[in-house]
Amino acid sequence: QPTYRIAPSLLSADFARLGEEVRNVIDAGADIIHFDVMDNHYVPNLTMGPMVCQAIRPHTEAPIDVHLMVKPVDSLVPMFAKAGANMITFHPEASEHIDRTLSMIRDHGCKAGLVFNPATPLHYLDHVMDKIDMVLIMSVNPGFGGQSFIAESLNKIRAARTRIDTWTAKHGGEIWLEVDGGVKADNIAEIARAGADTFVAGSAVYNAPDYRVAIEAMRRALAG
Ligand code: DX5
Ligand code: ZN
Repeated sequence: QPTYRIAPSLLSADFARLGEEVRNVIDAGADIIHFDVMDNHYVPNLTMGPMVCQAIRPHTEAPIDVHLMVKPVDSLVPMFAKAGANMITFHPEASEHIDRTLSMIRDHGCKAGLVFNPATPLHYLDHVMDKIDMVLIMSVNPGFGGQSFIAESLNKIRAARTRIDTWTAKHGGEIWLEVDGGVKADNIAEIARAGADTFVAGSAVYNAPDYRVAIEAMRRALAG
C-alpha cells in the first residue's frame, strides 16, 4: 500500500484561533497543513498571505503546503519560503513562465508543484516533470471550501497517476499526487484507487465535532 497523507485545509479552520487549530489538527493525526492563498483576482476570494504563514510556523513541525491561487505568482515565492513554507504549488495558467517559477520555488528550498483546475489540461506537465515534486488535482473550482467533489476528476487523477509512474519508472525520484476539493471519508477510498496519495480535506475535518474521529474515519476508509 502507498503512503497516504492527510492534509487538512486551514481554510475551514477558525481564523481567530489559527495557531491552536494547526496544533489540534496535527495532534489529531494529520500529516500536513494545507494553506490556501487566494488573491481576489485569480480566484474570487481573499484569504491569507506570508505573514499568516509565518505566524503559524512555530505551532507545528509538520510540513506547510502552500497552495497559491494568485496571479502573478513569482513575487510571493520568496516571501512564503521565508515564512516557513515547505511546499509551494501554483496554477500554471497564472504564471507567465512556468519553468522559471518552478525553479524559483526549488531554489528557495521548497518542494514545487503545479495545480490543475477541473478544466486545465495536464499537458502543462510535459516539459517540466524534472522540476516537479507534487501534482495537485483540483476536484472543485478553486475559491471556496465546502463544495462537492466533481466526479470527472477521477479520470484526471488516473491520467496524472499514469504520467507520474511513467516518469518515475524511467527517471526515479518521488512525485506526490495530491487531490483538493470535496474529499470526505466516503469518497477518499475511490480517490485513492484512482491514484492519489495525498488528500486535502477542509470542511470534512474542520467542520467535524472531533478532528481525530474525522481523520481516523478517512484512514480507515483508506485501509479498508
Ligand atoms: C479550494 C481550496 C481547498 C478547500 C478545500 O479553493 O483550494 O483547499 O479548502 O475545502 P473542502 O475540503 O471543504 O472542499
Ligand atoms: Zn487548496
